[in-house]
Amino acid sequence: MQLTDYIRTIEDFPKKGISYKDITPLLMDPKASAFAVSELIKGLEDKTVDKVIGIESRGFLFGMLLAKALGVGFIPIRKPGKLPSVTISQSYDLEYGSDTIEIHEDSIQKGDRILLHDDLLATGGTASAACKLIEKLGGELVHINFVIELDFLEGRKLLPKAKVNSLLHY
Ligand code: PRP
Ligand code: MG
Repeated sequence: MQLTDYIRTIEDFPKKGISYKDITPLLMDPKASAFAVSELIKGLEDKTVDKVIGIESRGFLFGMLLAKALGVGFIPIRKPGKLPSVTISQSYDLEYGSDTIEIHEDSIQKGDRILLHDDLLATGGTASAACKLIEKLGGELVHINFVIELDFLEGRKLLPKAKVNSLLHY
């Protein structure tokens, strides 16, 4: 199974000069998405994972499937103002301006072993902010995985490299 066959590149989306990696063909194919899940959890069976965290919104798609496959709960990290209970926030820099993500403060118990997932690693700003939220709540980050990593943006530099795994590299 060649997962790259299920990733479509859309040029100049959402802005001119950006080569957008579209995972919707992968989502539409049940065999390919099941294969992606099995690849994403490879090696994690022996490391206890208590919870999977996915980042809004594309990180929810495989995030829930990973939680289901590992038989553990799922925690959403969301964009500001979306989570209804008490949250903690983390801001991070963008090329122009900044962005913020939030998590429910009671979602992680101290010492919980966390698998963090997002669909894509680009500059690493989003994922490294998510790591900070996990740390603030006393979670233990076991592993971070992505379907796609844009190597040329070097987002991995902002993350604990040894814990990062991406299925596809562009
Ligand atoms: C994209 C992608 C990652 C993030 C990666 O999300 O899904 O979450 O950007 O970028 P970074 O490594 O430079 O931080 P986006 O903000 O486009 O939102 P979406 O998931 O809701 O589509
Ligand atoms: Mg996203």
